[in-house]
Amino acid sequence: MRADVVTIFPAYLEPLGLSLVGKARERGTLEVRTHDLRAWTSDVHRTVDDAPYGGGPGMVMRPEPWDAALTEIAASRPGSRPRVVVPTPAGVPFSQRRAQELAREPWLVFCCGRYEGIDARVVDAWADDEISIGDYVLAGGEVATLVILEAVARLLPGVLGNSASAEDDSFSDGLLEAPVYTRPPVWRGAEVPAVLRSGDHGAVDRWRRAESLRRTLHRRPDLLAAADLSAADRAVLDA
Ligand code: ADE
Repeated sequence: MRADVVTIFPAYLEPLGLSLVGKARERGTLEVRTHDLRAWTSDVHRTVDDAPYGGGPGMVMRPEPWDAALTEIAASRPGSRPRVVVPTPAGVPFSQRRAQELAREPWLVFCCGRYEGIDARVVDAWADDEISIGDYVLAGGEVATLVILEAVARLLPGVLGNSASAEDDSFSDGLLEAPVYTRPPVWRGAEVPAVLRSGDHGAVDRWRRAESLRRTLHRRPDLLAAADLSAADRAVLDA
């Protein structure tokens, strides 16, 4: 996959050189190109914003630098077209399902807005997706891009050591994941649940499923409505 990120703060994207995303880049599974939006300004002050029509606080990002940037980036690979993502608190909610959908794309372009956002005309002309990472307002789209790209990168083929671990994730079956434990077997008087040390894989699977269901019931009851529940699952929830 190739991912281009357009921002006025390229340094914000430096964490994309670390850890899982950094390794995916080293291996060539993911190619990331970060671009400074100001490279596509033409005035001496390299202006990217202006006052909002209709009044109100803050500034709005001007359409011309964005259009010039996206035109040049899109033309950099003739014969293919990127999927253009604009992170914004006014977008549709990001989810594991959307991460899976984006992970199937060969080429993504992220447009990181700042201030009160990007002029709606250039967003309408270019954006395939406007995505929010949660019901709170960040200072810009850069951190949201880091979040989305990390969620997408770990789904790319060969990125996780064990591809089963992506399938076990919280949300991939619509439930929260069960708690996990490692050594020592007793820590500050608290024991690892005996079933996990029993060697009985069927019992371990049943215990994990029950813990997932109970966690989801307590923390995210909204998720249960959409989950695919068996009669045994319902018995756990009713207990
Ligand atoms: N930009 C600012 N806040 C955001 C949010 N919650 N999600 C995505 N992009 C944003």
